Amino acid sequence: MEKKFKRTLITTALPYANGPVHIGHLAGVYVPADIYARYQRLLGNDVVMVGGSDEHGVPITLKARQEGVTPQDIVDRYHNIIKDSMEEFGVSFDVYSRTSSPNHHKTASDFFRHLYDKGEFIMKTSMQPYDEVAGEFLADRYVRGTCPHCGNENAYGDQCEACGTSLSATDLINPRSALTSAPVTMRETTHWYLPLDKWEPALRHWILDEHKEWKTNVYGQCKSWLDLGLQPRAVSRDLKWGVPVPVEGAEGKVLYVWFDAPIGYISNTKELLPDTWETYWKDPETRIINFIGKDNIVFHCIVFPAMLMAYGDNFQLPDNVPANEFLNLEGDKISTSRNWAVWLHEYLRDFPGKQDVLRYVLTANAPETKDNDFTWTDFQARNNNELVAILGNFVNRAVVLTHKYFDGVLPARNEMEEIDRRMFDDIRAAKASLSANLDTFHFREALKDAMEMARIGNRYLQETEPWKLAKTDMPRVATILNCAIQLCANLAIAFEPFLPFMSRTLVTMLGIENITWDMLGSDDLVAAGTRIGQPQLLFEKIEDATIQAQLDRLARIKEENKVKSWKPAPQAADVDFDTFMKADLRVGTVLECQKVPKADKLLRFLIDDGLEKRTIVSGIAKYYAPEDLVGKQVCFIANLPPRKLKGIVSQGMILSAENADGSLVVIGPTAPVAPGASVK
Ligand code: 2FM
Ligand code: ZN
Repeated sequence: MEKKFKRTLITTALPYANGPVHIGHLAGVYVPADIYARYQRLLGNDVVMVGGSDEHGVPITLKARQEGVTPQDIVDRYHNIIKDSMEEFGVSFDVYSRTSSPNHHKTASDFFRHLYDKGEFIMKTSMQPYDEVAGEFLADRYVRGTCPHCGNENAYGDQCEACGTSLSATDLINPRSALTSAPVTMRETTHWYLPLDKWEPALRHWILDEHKEWKTNVYGQCKSWLDLGLQPRAVSRDLKWGVPVPVEGAEGKVLYVWFDAPIGYISNTKELLPDTWETYWKDPETRIINFIGKDNIVFHCIVFPAMLMAYGDNFQLPDNVPANEFLNLEGDKISTSRNWAVWLHEYLRDFPGKQDVLRYVLTANAPETKDNDFTWTDFQARNNNELVAILGNFVNRAVVLTHKYFDGVLPARNEMEEIDRRMFDDIRAAKASLSANLDTFHFREALKDAMEMARIGNRYLQETEPWKLAKTDMPRVATILNCAIQLCANLAIAFEPFLPFMSRTLVTMLGIENITWDMLGSDDLVAAGTRIGQPQLLFEKIEDATIQAQLDRLARIKEENKVKSWKPAPQAADVDFDTFMKADLRVGTVLECQKVPKADKLLRFLIDDGLEKRTIVSGIAKYYAPEDLVGKQVCFIANLPPRKLKGIVSQGMILSAENADGSLVVIGPTAPVAPGASVK
């Protein structure tokens, strides 16, 4: 790419430290950012990638309350887990910090104070939900009540999860505090607001006129926000956890988490480069790229830029915000609260050493232009059919053949033939496409280009068939294997941004050091005479049983969620007493009980009802062993018309209760009664 910038600052959305990170985080933000950073480093460009944990906000305080610990305990726990996951997956941050750090608190506090002193805020007084028992204002998320749209009694003050409607706490019917369950009252409170309307013309021009090249999902979302017209936004909250508002009389108020979090990008750069951080933020020759998920677009394209414009002092706006859409898991939205996720630390436990496989699958299937689905069968197929069968297979063949015919010492090359030259031309053509795709954040396509290089390698060996020439033409075999090993070295470079662990193995195996993007396309990367490392499998096949274990885990979680979200059915319409009394309910003793052949749900009972022996068929075979029911007393409806089930005439119906998971429990008296006793 034409180098019009002197340096690049890559920022990555700060994940909330209220839980571990999952594949959605990796696919949406960290893998794409890391691919881009690694590519820039290979190009030799000045690049810095900053990240850190977002440690403020209501969900963190809520979790702390639930667990009876402090918010600091919560963020300490998850910050470390997240940081470890990032490292283990090779996300090559230059700094990974946290917003509870003193450096960040000072930076965010000073930022606010600067805007305050410049008169960039307006103050507004409004009525906010208040918990009289806890003596605290309540963020919308802390208020629960009945949804005015669907009647769900447990809607949150910001959203009803049953019908999906966005709400504000004042919309709820019978609002109560999520902290103490006390009824919510309204109290007056005053906050600072950033008048986004003031910055609307500048934002319109900057995005709509000057950044038409942004991804259509990002540009489109910005345009709809701008077209709706911008309103002043509160930048403070009545909370105890966060960066205190640095103004007299603001006790009990902190900066809104979305005000301080993006300033975290600045704090992190400062922490990394205490002396030169300003060049990365204020020099127009710096290019800033924000990697985020689609739910963060408005904050990065509208709110944070408005904050930077209001600050002045040459702060630069992002050059691009390549936001991704969402990754789903097996057809359902990833959800932390429902444990519907593949957690990175759990993946590593189940697939040790296979970080590159996940990076590969998440890039091949990245939600770049629309929401995408992660499925375990796709994961297996991409590993087995692409990484193992194409990339691993080519490298393995080249290395094994070099060991077989030349004892692992790279032979010198003789004159190249047309097919050899064409192979390198093809590699250079793939490189051109690969670079263009990386420059424009099209990482899925870029990965295909890299994979094309491995395909070129397989075709080359297939067409040249060195194993057939070994008996007759060793000089030609030397040339072919030299070319094939050069191609392996090219793959180590082309794949470095995507599969850094594999690339490292390959670099070591081939004895090449200090790889650069410039070297990609060269036919002369490994010197003749180099001892090539022992062949080792770069990727291994993943078996069906391994995938099944993951699918079983998800199936278990789905069941657990069903049980957790179970609610009793709403009460049925009234029935008049006389009608009810017509049902003849009785107790009988089970004399015999057997499975009904060819009907896996049905049991056939012989019941002593005090008058005679009656047969009843009941659909509870999945929940009982028939012999366990013999001798038990059960309630049944005696006066239903007889019904034929699988050829058996059933004279009544045994009563059962249905559990949350759908299982059935037979109803009977709590102490023995005479067979035939009426149920009143
Ligand atoms: O959506 C989120 O997970 C936020 N914690 C992202 C913050 S990005 C930035 F502004 F810090
Ligand atoms: Zn609702």
